[in-house]
Amino acid sequence: MSDGQAKDSSRRNWIIATCVSGGAAGVATALPLVCTFAPSERAKAAGAPVEVDIGDLKPGDMKVAEWRGKPVWILKRTPEMLASLPKTDAEVADPKSEKPYTMDVPEYCKNEDRSRAEHKDILVVVGICSHLGCSPSSKFQAGPQPSLPDNWQGGFLCPCHGSTFDLAGRVFKNKPAPNNLDVPRYMYLSDSKIVIGKDEKGEA
Ligand code: FES
Repeated sequence: MSDGQAKDSSRRNWIIATCVSGGAAGVATALPLVCTFAPSERAKAAGAPVEVDIGDLKPGDMKVAEWRGKPVWILKRTPEMLASLPKTDAEVADPKSEKPYTMDVPEYCKNEDRSRAEHKDILVVVGICSHLGCSPSSKFQAGPQPSLPDNWQGGFLCPCHGSTFDLAGRVFKNKPAPNNLDVPRYMYLSDSKIVIGKDEKGEA
């Protein structure tokens, strides 16, 4: 097996692990995570844009779609989750998303929420840590808990080396991960459907 295949295989395992562990966390914290692997094999092989139905997401729910072999998280944030973001501005490394990771941040997501203006509550990010590629776990519950600071506002924790990300996928300062989570191009086809990997300017 080549290094590339091994990495792909490892990432796929992380996708599955994320769904399983996230679901378990959902039971514990009443924040359900729905796993969605809808695209056809042909679409995935071609790296085509992926349509995702988000009509069933309730505030606090997160869905995982697969695009180009990567897990893409779609989180419908609650008003409380959105209100937490200004509180983390001073603690994150790149609050305005000026540093790209593997892809440029779309202009419409270069804001504190890292979301499109028409649906500020919806976060769409690639769930791969910018340190060494593990998939962070959702830690939506605010407050003190193991491996997290006492003023935790909710976000994501990478289990590999402890990098933390806020509820906009922005990495906290002084962590191994140097960059925010990638935001792919995406756009709304309707209020309840998005397409990942494509926007008004074309395909990613
Ligand atoms: S891979 Fe995430 S902190 Fe190292």
